[in-house]
Amino acid sequence: MKTKKMTAVVAMLWWAVMLGGVAMPLARGSSIDQSPQAVEKWFEELPHAKEKLTKLHFYLHDNITAQNPTAIQVAQANITSKSPTMFGATFALEDPLTLGPDPSSKIIGYAQGIYSSVSKEETSLILILNLVFTHGKFEGSTLSLLGIDPILHQYRELPILGGTGVFRLARGIATAQTYTFNATTLNAIVEYHVLVIHY
Ligand SMILES: *[C@@H]1O[C@H](CO)[C@@H](O)[C@H](O)[C@H]1NC(C)=O
Ligand SMILES: *[C@@H]1O[C@H](CO)[C@@H](O)[C@H](O)[C@H]1NC(C)=O
Ligand SMILES: *[C@@H]1O[C@H](CO)[C@@H](O)[C@H](O)[C@H]1NC(C)=O
Repeated sequence: MKTKKMTAVVAMLWWAVMLGGVAMPLARGSSIDQSPQAVEKWFEELPHAKEKLTKLHFYLHDNITAQNPTAIQVAQANITSKSPTMFGATFALEDPLTLGPDPSSKIIGYAQGIYSSVSKEETSLILILNLVFTHGKFEGSTLSLLGIDPILHQYRELPILGGTGVFRLARGIATAQTYTFNATTLNAIVEYHVLVIHY
C-alpha cells in the first residue's frame, strides 16, 4: 500500500514538473494578462470591442513513422488492422506548425491533440486539436479546432470553435490541403489556411 501511495505522489510531482515546464515558456512570451481579474475585465469591455478578421497560413508536419515521431498511435481496436481505413486507430500528436512547407522552416507553434479514424468507408479522421502558437504575433495564444478530416479530399473544412489569449471567443474556419503525403511512411505535410473572427 505504502509503495502505491509513494508512486502516486511521485507521479503527481512528475506531472507538476512536466506541466510547469511546458506551461512556462508559453506564458513567458505572452503579453496578455491571463489572470481571472483580467479575463473578467476583458468580458466587461467586450460590448465596446471591435470584431477583427485574422488570416493565418502555415504547414503542419505529421510524422508517424520517423525516428522522432510527432504523432504516436495510442490505441486501436481488434479489427483496426483488418480495416482498410484503420477504423479505430487513435493517435496523440504534437505536430510542428511552420511558416513554409520545408520541415526546417520557422516553427510558429504546435498542433497538440488527438485524431482517430472514424469512418469504415473512407479514410476520415476526427481532429481534436489545440493550435498552440509559440512564436510571432500570436505567441501565447491558442485556437481550438474540432472537425472531420477526410484526408483524401482536396479541401477539408474544419471549424475553429474558440481560443485563448488574443483569440478569446474566436470562431472561424480552417481549410486543410495535403501538401505531401508519403504512402510508404504515412508521413504528411498539410497546408492550413485559417480565417478567424475575434476581438
Ligand atoms: C519528418 O520526417 C522526414 C523524413 O524522415 C524528415 O525529413 C522531417 O524533418 C521530419 N519532420 C519533422 C517535423 O520531424
Ligand atoms: C474483438 O473484441 C470483441 C470484444 O472483446 C470480441 O467480441 C470479438 O470477438 C473480437 N473480434 C475479433 C475479430 O477478434
Ligand atoms: C517515401 O518515403 C520513403 C522512405 O523514406 C522514400 O524511400 C520514398 O522516396 C518516399 N516517397 C516519396 C514519394 O517521397
